[in-house]
Amino acid sequence: MEIRIFNNDKEISDFITEKWNEISYDAVRERGFFAVALSGGRTPADLYLRLSEKKSLPWNSTHIFQVDERFVTVFEPANNYAMIRDKLLRRVDVPEGNIHQIFARLSDPQTAAEAYEDELTGFFQLSGHSLPVFDLVLLGIGKDGHMASLLPGSEAIKVRDRLTAAITGSKIDHSRITLTLPVINNAKNVVFLVKGQDKANVVKEVIEKKNASLPASMVKPKGSLMFVMDTGAASLIRRP
Ligand code: 6PG
Repeated sequence: MEIRIFNNDKEISDFITEKWNEISYDAVRERGFFAVALSGGRTPADLYLRLSEKKSLPWNSTHIFQVDERFVTVFEPANNYAMIRDKLLRRVDVPEGNIHQIFARLSDPQTAAEAYEDELTGFFQLSGHSLPVFDLVLLGIGKDGHMASLLPGSEAIKVRDRLTAAITGSKIDHSRITLTLPVINNAKNVVFLVKGQDKANVVKEVIEKKNASLPASMVKPKGSLMFVMDTGAASLIRRP
């Protein structure tokens, strides 16, 4: 696991943009496209805006997927797709057909999860139990140790035989649709982007204490794993 700590948003975004640049061009060279799964939440908004200024990235060959979504319409602030669209997608030349949205307007979360699974199966031409290979998955962490919409103690975190899962129930604010752990762990590169002092505790739990009960600790990709943080989020761990 690689850990990188930066002083401000610009340094963080510049670093990840450079990674994105390398990974995307390698992917396009190797298989003709770059497949990336993006998280929502507040943390990556600055990164998406700065990425949108990089017109030299291979946007035409970039396929954008979502890590997860809340079951709310795109008109509500909690909708991840709307944030990703506003900060990034509407500002760059990604062809419409390269955008693989989780449609939260479908009748129910399970139907939306199945539709997204079909989208993944079709795009990656999967058969049997094969898994999609994302070139890059960008994750955040919740203060409770969740990543994607895989919440601590949830049934969804145990799912091994599906690509997506729906999370419903009275304990959460919105139902959600998420990629499952096997899909995330099959990625070539996973980057956690974590900012703010309020995440310092959970960062320590995951990186130093290796608290195995937390979904963020279960991210052990076949490829590379990197934590990119600001000094606030990294304030309780020993500096690498
Ligand atoms: C989401 C993601 C979630 C997120 C973390 C961190 O909110 O869409 O499901 O995993 O990355 O909760 O969220 P913040 O970046 O808003 O702190």
